[in-house]
Amino acid sequence: APDSDMQLIRMHEYLTDLYHHILMHTNEGQQALDYLTDRGFSADIIRKEKIGIAPDMRDFTKNALSEKGYSMELAYQAGLISRNEENFSYYDRFSGRIMIPIRNHQGYIVGYTARSLDGREPKYLNTPETPIFQKRQLLYNLSDARKDIRKKDEVILMEGHLDVVKVKMTDVQNIVGLMGTALSGENIHTLNRLASNITFMFDGDEAGQSAQMTLGEQLLKSGANVYVISIPKGLDPDEYIETRGTEAFETLVKNERKHYIHFKADQLLEESLNNDMAFSTNLNSLAEQLKFVKDEVTREKLLQHISSAYKIDKKSIENKVPAVNKNST
Ligand code: GTP
Ligand code: MN
Ligand code: MN
Ligand code: MN
Ligand code: MN
Repeated sequence: APDSDMQLIRMHEYLTDLYHHILMHTNEGQQALDYLTDRGFSADIIRKEKIGIAPDMRDFTKNALSEKGYSMELAYQAGLISRNEENFSYYDRFSGRIMIPIRNHQGYIVGYTARSLDGREPKYLNTPETPIFQKRQLLYNLSDARKDIRKKDEVILMEGHLDVVKVKMTDVQNIVGLMGTALSGENIHTLNRLASNITFMFDGDEAGQSAQMTLGEQLLKSGANVYVISIPKGLDPDEYIETRGTEAFETLVKNERKHYIHFKADQLLEESLNNDMAFSTNLNSLAEQLKFVKDEVTREKLLQHISSAYKIDKKSIENKVPAVNKNST
């Protein structure tokens, strides 16, 4: 990395240790530490992730960096402090928030996602785009998960940063978090290079399920084998672990995996039981997606599932997918 990038990174490394110290060892951090502990985050994982607290002050970070000899322009460039555009004064971007460090794919801390403690909006405030923090190039936790992803030839995708942190307390390590609601071309390329199998484990709410549908299709079209592990309605991975326990979570991950098209077929069927027009449109769109399934056995199995779930002859579905017939040599 260029020298200027390393300077921005060093600022993050310095602040991360400071925020972490305040969380673990001072009165200023007690409330946040209690909050994290109540949510089931162990001291071990908090230390490992170097989670911290940015004190609820206007100038804490600004002064800390300034005392270290960093210029305010540089701190502003790093997205660590904000600027008042009327009088060009600087003030802390993050205050009164739990600071979750975000590492780039090489393992350097390049930004934060910061959760409010008191219901203050927004719930999560992230580092803005900077020379070292470009969301389209980042997948949260990849530097730690890479080895296990390679070993399992599978990467599990989650929505929430704290979901990833909580799951890191279990046996499941091949997990990364998305940096927003979209997948960039770079993200898709990175994921495909890492593993042949990409599994979604998004929140069991409307937003999570619908994002999973859209992103899953993108990944399927990019050539990946895409699976879904369904989280029960109303829970996210973190809440699943808190309410049902670590073992239940590990069992879920071990045993439950629907192919993206299987998952989609089941969802669409529910929606179109009393709607013949939707039924037909849905069947067409499923057939359309079958052509992206390269493995013949998998495709055959999916065809069978759809045929029996929709009570439509396999041949009629196959006929909607001319590309499948051509490819199956
Ligand atoms: P907790 O309430 O702390 O458990 O967070 P969560 O991860 O369960 O949050 P939620 O399911 O509401 O959102 C999922 C993910 O979307 C979060 O982890 C964030 O990455 C992102 N997100 C949620 N709220 C905000 C927000 O206000 N601003 C931004 N930028 N991202 C958000
Ligand atoms: Mn959600
Ligand atoms: Mn949550
Ligand atoms: Mn959630
Ligand atoms: Mn089914």
